[in-house]
Amino acid sequence: MESLPSQNRNPLPNASLWPLTTSVDHGGRLIIGGCDVAALAQQYGTPLYLFDEVTIRTACRACRTAFAARHRGTTAVHYAGKALLNVAIAQIIADEGLGLDVVSGGELYVALRAGFPPQRIHMHGNAKTRAELEQALAAGIGQIIVDNLDELDMLRRLTANRSSPQPVALRIAPDIAADTHAHIQTGHATSKFGLPLDALDAAAEKLRTASGIRLTGLHAHLGSQLFDIAPYAAAIEVLLDSATRLRDRFGVLIEEINAGGGIGVPYTADQPLPDIDAWAALLGDTLVRGCERRGLPLMRLVIEPGRSIMARAGIALYTIVATKMLPHMRFLHIDGGMGDNIRPALYGARYTAALAERMRDPVEECVAIAGRYCESGDVLIRDLMLPRARVGEILAVPVAGAYTLSMASTYNLAPRPAVVLVNGGEARLIQRRETYEDLIVRDVG
Ligand SMILES: Cc1ncc(COP(=O)(O)O)c(C=O)c1O
Repeated sequence: MESLPSQNRNPLPNASLWPLTTSVDHGGRLIIGGCDVAALAQQYGTPLYLFDEVTIRTACRACRTAFAARHRGTTAVHYAGKALLNVAIAQIIADEGLGLDVVSGGELYVALRAGFPPQRIHMHGNAKTRAELEQALAAGIGQIIVDNLDELDMLRRLTANRSSPQPVALRIAPDIAADTHAHIQTGHATSKFGLPLDALDAAAEKLRTASGIRLTGLHAHLGSQLFDIAPYAAAIEVLLDSATRLRDRFGVLIEEINAGGGIGVPYTADQPLPDIDAWAALLGDTLVRGCERRGLPLMRLVIEPGRSIMARAGIALYTIVATKMLPHMRFLHIDGGMGDNIRPALYGARYTAALAERMRDPVEECVAIAGRYCESGDVLIRDLMLPRARVGEILAVPVAGAYTLSMASTYNLAPRPAVVLVNGGEARLIQRRETYEDLIVRDVG
């Protein structure tokens, strides 16, 4: 066995897009976590999502180590569960010592069922319901990140009789438009997320009389899939200005700055790998210098990566079930698509792919990968160079770990895929395939 060959000897655009344990055997078969990928596709059926445990754990450790090394104060890395969450994933994240961000009662339920320590859970959301806030309070989670004044009012009412106050952070919309797709921009002034800067005083007034709540942090999340890290420094400055205002006007001392997640990962060969160390250095330095300049005590630094922890660890496996020849190209029709990965249809996300049993074969044609769903927009990849692919072959799509299954639907009533975790030559089913029976389990009558 050997490492993946470089681009000019292999149809793979870039070895850095595949999980860390990826190799190709002498027969040209894709091996991940010591397991033959196409054999797993035969065993478990397709579509199948396969996750490499080593890649997940390595990403967790790299992030924790980089931030601990680059910030003089304390740091915490919270995995953003919206990227992918199930019981096994929550347990790996807990085991790696990360915190967890949830954005719904459902994510909180799964985390608690997985045994995730509640103190290390933060809850986000621009429309948390009363039931979700009650659930979070009852579970004793570490922090609720308040998104708007109505939520603050609700939380004040729900915590009125508490003996120990619930820690909260305020999410601020820092009025910074990061360079990414409009659908995944979140820090601009007109975003639906976060308190407008001019609502800070109103929030502080409400907090003044809220004995059941303790404001510990300020938060901003600029968006997702960001390659330019400079806006993070600008966001920290805005948060520190807000912390200074809270101190000067209301006597409140903020202990923690949360810079959100969002660092970009490559999906295709032309995109760079994330430089976690540079990100940590920029955030750490900006925070230390910013606190010093304003005479604020050194604060804890929190970040919330999702994609950069999970995207590269996952690959999607599909069977090519049919083809369609056009004058200038061919469609390969696969047995999955927007039901398990809506990103291309939702915001034009680009992917690459390879044939899992013919990794060494020379590329011969440009194809489009058409999903199985009844939408013309369900085209997973529009221009993919492949060897001449045949019906029945297994197509492997890398960088499929984040915002795919967590956004999956049963559109067309196609059951959602199974999920397998690989490590050291062992494969473990961590989420079974949805069945037809599952599809009617909620139907009444
Ligand atoms: C508040 C918040 N934090 C963290 C994240 C994770 O972002 P990413 O997966 O891009 O790292 C998101 C995702 O959009 C988010 O909304």
